[in-house]
Amino acid sequence: MCGIVGYIGRREAAPLLLEGLQRLEYRGYDSAGLAIHARNPGLKSAKAAGRVRDLESRLPKRFSGTTGIAHTRWATHGAPDDANAHPHLDATGRVAVVHNGIIDNASDLRARLAADGVTLASDTDTEVLAHLIGRSTAETLEARVREALGHIEGTYGIAVLHAGFPDRIVAARNGSPVVLGIGEHEMFVASDVAALVAHTRQVVTLDDGEMATLTADDYRTCTTEGSRTAPAPETVEWAAESYDLGGHDTYMHKEISEQADAVDRVLRGRIDDRFATVHLGGLNMDAREARGVRRVKILGCGSAYHAGLIGAQLVEELARIPADAEPASEFRYRNAVVDPDTLYVAVSQSGETYDTLAAVQELKRKGARVLGVVNVVGSAIARETDGGVYVHAGPEVCVVSTKCFTNTAVAFALLALHLGRIRDLSVSDGRRIIAGLRRLPEQIAEILRGEEEIRRLAAEYAEARSMMFVGRVRGYPVALEASLKLKEVSYVHAEAYPASELKHGPLALIEPALPTVAVLPDDDLLEKNRATLEEIKARGGPILAVGHERQEKADHTLVVPRNEPELDPVLLGVPLQLLAYHTALTLGRDIDKPRNLAKSVTVE
Ligand code: AGP
Repeated sequence: MCGIVGYIGRREAAPLLLEGLQRLEYRGYDSAGLAIHARNPGLKSAKAAGRVRDLESRLPKRFSGTTGIAHTRWATHGAPDDANAHPHLDATGRVAVVHNGIIDNASDLRARLAADGVTLASDTDTEVLAHLIGRSTAETLEARVREALGHIEGTYGIAVLHAGFPDRIVAARNGSPVVLGIGEHEMFVASDVAALVAHTRQVVTLDDGEMATLTADDYRTCTTEGSRTAPAPETVEWAAESYDLGGHDTYMHKEISEQADAVDRVLRGRIDDRFATVHLGGLNMDAREARGVRRVKILGCGSAYHAGLIGAQLVEELARIPADAEPASEFRYRNAVVDPDTLYVAVSQSGETYDTLAAVQELKRKGARVLGVVNVVGSAIARETDGGVYVHAGPEVCVVSTKCFTNTAVAFALLALHLGRIRDLSVSDGRRIIAGLRRLPEQIAEILRGEEEIRRLAAEYAEARSMMFVGRVRGYPVALEASLKLKEVSYVHAEAYPASELKHGPLALIEPALPTVAVLPDDDLLEKNRATLEEIKARGGPILAVGHERQEKADHTLVVPRNEPELDPVLLGVPLQLLAYHTALTLGRDIDKPRNLAKSVTVE
């Protein structure tokens, strides 16, 4: 996902813009650039394929000004090279645009501009915006941007500079996040609060179809049709230092290590011992409405989907409501039958994943009730849904989700407990689950203390060309997530199967060169799972078991503490996060920025 940063105020813009881009590096990108209003009139810009530090080394000596915009690009249209890096300028060089999103009708607009004699300097969709703004003669910059956006079909989060309007930046949002930072005689604009939270925690989040004009001392917002709007400023929950590495070598290691504290946060203030239930104030659904729910459908992508699978099991086990989870990217395209008695739950760390947001918008269009289980407060999905549960994992900077996955699973335990205690879940079962929830932080800390053993195992298995992950029922979502973790951070091929499915085909893959990670909760399926270990062992497959006691058929067992059976999936996944991490470390991977991936996929 591309990153946008803008600054207007009294300080030198370039250092602030570069710092902001560095704060956004975690999202993944392949080029970077910036443009400023130079003291001697006109715009100055610099852009380069590669890292922000490459851009910094190429900045001209005199690159001074107090207003500017900057961008990190994750290539969609056009190669990741200097010409396609943002900002894009119009033919006169007096307009600069940075853009996150996709302009669907870019090729038509490029053809029309070329037919009009415009020479296009890049292969990007974004460049058309710069030319359209540059060709407008409307009185204000805001009106020129609005006029240009009138030609655009697609998604955008943009920031615009114009040499004729050196005292302002115009921003606009449709489908890609844009947040304003309100400072003392200075304003910021960014695609993620991470880029501005070091300077201000007062922010205004633009809605889709909203624009903003920023000057050093003020900001004004309106719709892209021109009607004034007045979004209320919010205070960012996370302090700037929560985006720091905190002494860890990587964000992934930091975020795995802080899971005990993160789970503390998702539980804090929500447990009601008196009625053996939980308070979820943001649901906006009273007990009578909750009792009317006949089914729960959970939607998410990647790790969010896997956490949703755990959530569906918890809802069925604790609330006895039929529940299932489906990739949002599939749901949105299959013209699903939307049932008014179904409670839909959208899961997303960033709250900006386009496929999940589009599924939510489709459901809302059909009158469904949709909740959000989201990490980023005020994100698009959080604002689009009828209510929800914030997972309070804190900023998750690493592209690979770990602490937010765990917190999301715990948030679903809270939702399932809430729904269950409105229905038939007994007080004693409610108390049992609450006691289990309260044990989670310390048990996670205990697992993390066993990191050295996991590091050694990772080194032993790192050379495997592929790995198989298996689990049954509660173990299967854990296997799926662990398989994704390994793939995305170490680039080692991995796949996950329900253990019962092995004999229906995948068993043909088992051989000494293919290690299997088997997730074995100590539940009523343990004997079945042990039989699976026999099947694998009989074919010479190495086995790494994860469970509550050592498995004699396994070459190694990672033992995790027992909790309540319903909550075991939360703990069983933690050592496998470390397995993926240390495998990637052994293989020398770029752990926080895995190739080809972005932290939040706000494009289709
Ligand atoms: C998780 O490790 C991945 N980075 C990815 O699958 C992620 O979970 C997915 O893109 C959904 O992101 P979201 O939670 O921000 O919606």
